[in-house]
Amino acid sequence: MNRNSDAMGEFAEFSPLEVDFRDGLLSMYRGEPQRGADGLLHEIDETTRISIAEGMILRALCLENGVTSSLEVGLGYGFSTLFLLAAHAGRGGGRHTAIDPYQATDWHGIGATQAKALVSRPSWSAPVSFEWIEDCSHRALVDLERMGRRFGLVFIDGYHRFDDVLVDFYLAAKLCEPDCLVVFHDMWLESIQAVASFIRHNRNDFSEVTTPCENLCVFRRVADDRREWSHFIDFPHPKPSASR
Ligand SMILES: C[S@@+](CC[C@H](N)C(=O)[O-])C[C@H]1O[C@@H](n2cnc3c(N)ncnc32)[C@H](O)[C@@H]1O
Repeated sequence: MNRNSDAMGEFAEFSPLEVDFRDGLLSMYRGEPQRGADGLLHEIDETTRISIAEGMILRALCLENGVTSSLEVGLGYGFSTLFLLAAHAGRGGGRHTAIDPYQATDWHGIGATQAKALVSRPSWSAPVSFEWIEDCSHRALVDLERMGRRFGLVFIDGYHRFDDVLVDFYLAAKLCEPDCLVVFHDMWLESIQAVASFIRHNRNDFSEVTTPCENLCVFRRVADDRREWSHFIDFPHPKPSASR
């Protein structure tokens, strides 16, 4: 039994995960240095991550909806990536694609290195694959559409300004299979709340899905986008906070 397995009591939420993903995530949530693309260990910051509860919800959304092809905007250290890959490994295979232009420069390639190492292990009974697209989401999402790629779950956690996130959603919506889930992170931010409010009031091709985590917002693609050319419904959005 290795050190991570010894300490399972510390992070009991991980117990349903396949052991390789569990050990990788345990080490990352403990804040231990992680291996980068240069083969060296690097310190990681303790803020750039989703929480364990959020990761377990992402994994459950994949498993419960039979998702075989997932996409994320914003790879970072790869916390969310590992939860999504764990879902694919747990249900008999799948493909995960992550977009991040700054993976090599800002994150030492840690997320991509971890993900590639885990998917290449012979432990999985069915193929699990990972690809990292080193580009900004506004270009990469258009390229994916041109390639005819489609996904069953899209996780949006890249640049967090209102217009960046709205563009991520607009472009990602064109990549959605029927019933695809689009998940937003960081609902504490007014920018993301405003995007969610726009979708609720304007995009009747998406229906909101209840989630137990208030920092996530989930929509399901339920129809084609058949709005008129001039369609617009004003939507309530947060007022600038008093602290600004
Ligand atoms: C909060 S981090 C993502 C954390 C990750 N989801 C996790 O759980 O480990 C945000 C990421 O978005 C990336 N990012 C910033 N601008 C981006 C863009 N235009 N397109 C895609 N990714 C972007 C950053 O490099 C960073 O890795």
